[in-house]
Amino acid sequence: MSHETGSHNDVSDNLPSEQHGGHGAEAARTDPFADPGLPPHEHRRQDIDEKAAKHSERVVAGLFTLSMLGTLGFIASYVIFPVGKIVYIFPVGHVSALNFSLGLTLGLALFCIGAGAVHWARTLMSDEEIADERHRVDADDELRENVRQQWITGAKESGFGRRKLIRNTMFGAVSLVPLAGVVLLRDLGPLPEDKLQHTLWAKGKVLVNTNTNKPLRPEDIVVGSLTFGQPQGLEEADDDFQEQIAKAAVMIVRLKPEDIKDKREADWGHDGIVVFSKICTHVGCPISLYEQQTHHVLCPCHQSTFDLSDGARVIFGPAGHPLPQLRISVNGEGNLVALGDFEAPVGPAFWER
Ligand code: FES
Repeated sequence: MSHETGSHNDVSDNLPSEQHGGHGAEAARTDPFADPGLPPHEHRRQDIDEKAAKHSERVVAGLFTLSMLGTLGFIASYVIFPVGKIVYIFPVGHVSALNFSLGLTLGLALFCIGAGAVHWARTLMSDEEIADERHRVDADDELRENVRQQWITGAKESGFGRRKLIRNTMFGAVSLVPLAGVVLLRDLGPLPEDKLQHTLWAKGKVLVNTNTNKPLRPEDIVVGSLTFGQPQGLEEADDDFQEQIAKAAVMIVRLKPEDIKDKREADWGHDGIVVFSKICTHVGCPISLYEQQTHHVLCPCHQSTFDLSDGARVIFGPAGHPLPQLRISVNGEGNLVALGDFEAPVGPAFWER
């Protein structure tokens, strides 16, 4: 849509000088490819009949209002319908009540905004076509002023300022629609709170062999072996078994005490037995390859390598942190027990620690 200041009734004023009077049959006689020009502008009913314009205004406002109701219906459906409720709707058949109502109400809200805008443009905004010459690319002051005037005229003709009912309902509809997306954020689930920082390990928790589920005793762990363990009481049948084992799985090795380079590591172990998280600190693969001569463990996913004789320090690969160590001791029954939780979150860092 284009507008020319004060030129509603005389379109020919905007045409290039050679086009004046050159359109139509006369021009076609001298040039078979002559520009036929624009057909005369025909006023719509709404342009000449204020009653019809008012009717269109009410239709547009009604559509925007319907959009608002659609958005509110979307939010209400989200709250009212349980996830598993199935209903029969002719002719669609059996469908999820929640999905059907969410789709219907959001569709209605978006459709009514579009339909309202189109109806407004087609019936109330100016539809006069204007031909104009191409101008130079750079704009001089006069042209800028001209554009400014056209903008003001366009704004006036759109009725944006004058037709307050349309303007206000449109603002209402457009500003309510994003609420539908905000409501869906709830589907991301509850916040994890501090769950990522803790595992099942706690003071006194007995270490059991992952394969036999039997408590581990220091004499079960021989130098050069790699044993996988978990906290006692964690059963595969538990609902949250996968989530818990993904954080609590450990590997247990026994080193000769003189081979341990890190003093804290030795202090946190028991007679050369040290326990580390089995979950790689790169992106969380379970580590399983142990090289007993060098005391290195290798993650099979991207080859991060950790030195278990030196605080599980990263010596190669993309992992950014050492494997967290579990502090252990032996209880009165001679079983290996934890003395607390890991000192750092296991697995990939979810923040810089
Ligand atoms: Fe272990 Fe990538 S997950 S190196």
